[in-house]
Amino acid sequence: MPKNLQLENVSKEFNRLAAVKNVNLEIGEGEFVTLLGPSGCGKTTTLRMIAGFETPTSGQIRYDGRVINDLIPQRRNFGIVFQSYALFPHMKVKENVAFGLKMHRYPKDRTRQRVDELLNLVGLAEHREKYPPELSGGMQQRVALARALAPSPEVILLDEPLSALDAKIRVKLRAEIKQLQTDLGITTIYVTHDQEEALSISDRVVVMNRGEIEQIDRPLDIYKNPRSRYVADFVGTSNFFEGELKGNLLSGKDFQLEVAPSAVKMAGPVTAAIRPEKIEILTDREAPPAAGRNLMNGTLVVVTFLGLMVRLVVHSGARDLIVDYLEKRYEESGLHRGDSLRLYLPPDAFRVYPR
Ligand SMILES: Nc1ncnc2c1ncn2[C@@H]1O[C@H](COP(=O)(O)OP(=O)(O)O)[C@@H](O)[C@H]1O
Ligand SMILES: [Mg+2]
Repeated sequence: MPKNLQLENVSKEFNRLAAVKNVNLEIGEGEFVTLLGPSGCGKTTTLRMIAGFETPTSGQIRYDGRVINDLIPQRRNFGIVFQSYALFPHMKVKENVAFGLKMHRYPKDRTRQRVDELLNLVGLAEHREKYPPELSGGMQQRVALARALAPSPEVILLDEPLSALDAKIRVKLRAEIKQLQTDLGITTIYVTHDQEEALSISDRVVVMNRGEIEQIDRPLDIYKNPRSRYVADFVGTSNFFEGELKGNLLSGKDFQLEVAPSAVKMAGPVTAAIRPEKIEILTDREAPPAAGRNLMNGTLVVVTFLGLMVRLVVHSGARDLIVDYLEKRYEESGLHRGDSLRLYLPPDAFRVYPR
């Protein structure tokens, strides 16, 4: 039987203020699940309840079928890594890693072997005699990871483990964490406010908003089919159009757009969202598709190079549209800042949300 972690209608109030509201979540054994949301949305509180540092005000947390609401953290066998490395500065690297083992009453003779194993795993074997302040932030976080993994926990909980690090180290270390997690097959719950990080490492992402879950899905599904305007805005970038929907025609102050028939299960005031890479740029050579529908004229006002992509801001009427274009195609197009251009917004690229 796989050991699942289940949160059933879990809520947490602090002085009657709801930090987490009615969270329902099931995490499978070996799964990598990320709680994603802006600061204050309840990610840490949720993780602390799973770890046993907070007790839910209501609802149940189960592990392997058993309710663990009142089980103390030490009895849960969950490993924890925080944003601040929380290493003991006066203890050597090897002693920091051994500390977790001591807490778990690991037999002394096997401790040394286990410490070496873990330091090898995170690539720090040669630093075992050093003190944490002698190491870089990224190395310190690897030590924290080794310390958490040493007692072979069944679940590992990571609360923004990379947010204190430089961008480059962050990307490198997150790939390492993912690799380690895949190799060990350990159930992982990861917390971050960084949507790119969440999408890149998770099997599933839980998008939170003000203590509640907005969506739980695989990264690709979250990106392609955000269930709410909030998700469409928080994960990736979207262009929004507010208007009245009749059939599949969306009418706004200064536009009329056809949106995909499949998106149209509603009517009245809605917000339609389209991703920047879905908007097409028409050059003079190309004939306008679909009898001129969904075309917008504009002026290219900002060009930002992002490497593979170029992000364009196109001023159209009273709005600025964000359009992402492959760098290669941008170069070929010969476009420059200040040029006039025409955009095509494919109907089936829109997602529609009630307002
Ligand atoms: N110990 C606490 N006492 C009172 N309020 C708290 C406590 N911990 C968190 N909160 C509040 O609960 C909400 C969620 O916080 P938190 O879980 O830390 O969010 P996140 O980790 O997503 O930034 C916030 O409004 C925060 O101020
Ligand atoms: Mg937090």
